[in-house]
Amino acid sequence: MNARNDLLWDKLELRHPLPTDGYALNQLVAASPPLDTNSVYCNLLQCQHFADTSVAALLNGKLVGFISAYCPPSDSETLFVWQVVVSEQLRGSGLAKRMLNWLIEQPATEHAQRLTTSITPDNRASWALFESFARDCGAIPVKSMLFESQRHFAGAHADEYLLQIAPLPNRPGKPMALHLDDLRGSLRSSNRRWLG
Ligand SMILES: CC(C)(COP(=O)(O)OP(=O)(O)OC[C@H]1O[C@@H](n2cnc3c(N)ncnc32)[C@H](O)[C@@H]1OP(=O)(O)O)[C@@H](O)C(=O)NCCC(=O)NCCS
Repeated sequence: MNARNDLLWDKLELRHPLPTDGYALNQLVAASPPLDTNSVYCNLLQCQHFADTSVAALLNGKLVGFISAYCPPSDSETLFVWQVVVSEQLRGSGLAKRMLNWLIEQPATEHAQRLTTSITPDNRASWALFESFARDCGAIPVKSMLFESQRHFAGAHADEYLLQIAPLPNRPGKPMALHLDDLRGSLRSSNRRWLG
């Protein structure tokens, strides 16, 4: 932690998003390749329907970071991270990891035993972020295929790999063996669903 970071954290506000953040989120994502852009309407829904499981970072009232995430309807023990974005000027300061750590401590996510996300093979920053987060949690990251380029995107998008991180910190004790069983089970069912 250096003086620049101290100053940043003093001024930084982390909070759940509001619908009025939707347009700024749309602009931030559009300025952050290789992220897929969504319609403003989709970003508004993220800020409204998924507010409790998402986080907005503001500096002097300006949106500088965002994580959109949700618990899949059929799996309340998983927090799925849809997109993470940090404005270009602030990258490398630890903001993305700070947002992840904040998010997993919120009431709406505290029942989540694992965090999952999907990453394209060449997104170095994203792999580094989630591998670093997993290391800090003392968790085991497990990688599997989620959506294949040809099969699911008609070749118009790179493969998306699923990364699963468990256990998350500060959860009521669940033995590591059970987390491994969960991971094996979900890998088997995702293989059945997508590759079978
Ligand atoms: C990915 C992204 C959110 C990372 O944000 P960030 O605030 O710079 O990340 P942090 O500073 O919290 O870094 C977290 C870890 O990842 C590492 N990291 C971050 N960017 C990296 C890069 N480009 N290359 C290598 N390592 C990187 C950091 O060194 C740090 O590791 P450490 O804690 O072990 O030292 C940011 O680069 C971004 O917005 N990229 C464009 C959008 C995108 O690709 N999002 C991810 C896909 S959803």
